[in-house]
Amino acid sequence: MTTTPPSAEAREDTLRVHVPLRERAYDILIGRGLLDAAGARIAPLGARRAAIVSDETVAPLYADRLIAGLAERGIGSATILVPPGEASKSYESLARVCDAVLAARVERGDLVVALGGGVIGDLAGFAAAIVRRGMRFVQIPTTLLAQVDSSVGGKTGINSRHGKNLVGAFHQPSLVLADTSLLDTLPPRELKAGYAEVVKYGLIDDAPFFDWCEANWFGILSGGPERDFAVARSCEAKAAVVARDEREDGDRALLNLGHTFAHALERAVGYDAGRLVHGEAVAIGMALAFRFSEKLDFCSRQDAHRVEDHLTEAGLPTRLQDVPGGCGSADWLLDAMGQDKKVKDGALTFILARGIGQSFIAKGVPADKVKKFLVGELYA
Ligand SMILES: NC(=O)c1ccc[n+]([C@@H]2O[C@H](COP(=O)([O-])OP(=O)(O)OC[C@H]3O[C@@H](n4cnc5c(N)ncnc54)[C@H](O)[C@@H]3O)[C@@H](O)[C@H]2O)c1
Ligand SMILES: [Zn+2]
Repeated sequence: MTTTPPSAEAREDTLRVHVPLRERAYDILIGRGLLDAAGARIAPLGARRAAIVSDETVAPLYADRLIAGLAERGIGSATILVPPGEASKSYESLARVCDAVLAARVERGDLVVALGGGVIGDLAGFAAAIVRRGMRFVQIPTTLLAQVDSSVGGKTGINSRHGKNLVGAFHQPSLVLADTSLLDTLPPRELKAGYAEVVKYGLIDDAPFFDWCEANWFGILSGGPERDFAVARSCEAKAAVVARDEREDGDRALLNLGHTFAHALERAVGYDAGRLVHGEAVAIGMALAFRFSEKLDFCSRQDAHRVEDHLTEAGLPTRLQDVPGGCGSADWLLDAMGQDKKVKDGALTFILARGIGQSFIAKGVPADKVKKFLVGELYA
């Protein structure tokens, strides 16, 4: 396989993935250097002003270049900052951002621009969904996770004391600019965590892409041209699922491969990113999903091993024992999984696999089988 994307259309150095959602259709542009060209890319949307929402880590690195690029095209801007981290997906931050957007004299035809990781995309996107009953917004994702996952698909929102992402709206962006050079300043741990979501797309339904990742992961992490292709291929994969199932009634659930386990592990560490970031939990979750599939005789031992070996090679955790400080008992984890929103009528729904690239939705997986598997994993 070459690094030429099969259907992402190449223009100069920029790759383009179209998200075909009828009147809500939009483009994702991917390439190094897109930030400096943001004014030219955003100008066709016809806005006069932009409210840029960012965090206090990302803004000092990149906001000036964005503001200058917009100004070159006659687009004025105001910058709204929140502290970095998950705690900013709160009612308080949402209220502050909404008020600041209104104070910035941004009119209904203007834009909200999210410059940051998934936290900023989710928060700014939700603010854009509700200020003036809906404003257009542009995503400029600055983490690998945001470029391959959270900026695609239109889910926006904040956390409630009842759980993560429980208050929000579907609101599609008008444009996504994924400048892959922005990932050069990302802490290596965040980069690797985002890579787990890249691998996920291969494991769901694209075995050749998983093969390609095995051969090219280093180029992705180190910022070679492989990175652009990996982001484009991931966006294409997510966009295809979203186009089939925009509001998650059907097979969009496949995107949750590894996530039922991952959410329980994130709960187990009290969402302490110092111990486990989301992508690390997903890496463990995907390795567990394949080993569980092997135990249930859906998947070969060879494929389960290959998944684990690749994640390990890329520097990601794959075992419950890899969770710093431990992750609780099998009963505790089972209970935590029972609280996940993918549970209906007391039966557990998992994404399992018949092999690499052959994932499927398994409904009604008996709790005792899950427990037996987890006990085995904890004492392996
Ligand atoms: N909407 C969706 O469909 C969807 C999907 C997956 C995840 N999410 C959400 O995404 C969030 C996680 O996103 P994330 O992993 O991007 O976390 P994040 O936004 O918290 O970013 C991680 C850290 O990296 C810093 N950072 C960001 N870009 C940087 C850069 N270029 N250089 C240096 N530092 C940088 C940030 O300041 C932050 O400290 C979660 O809240 C999750 O719920 C949403
Ligand atoms: Zn995820």
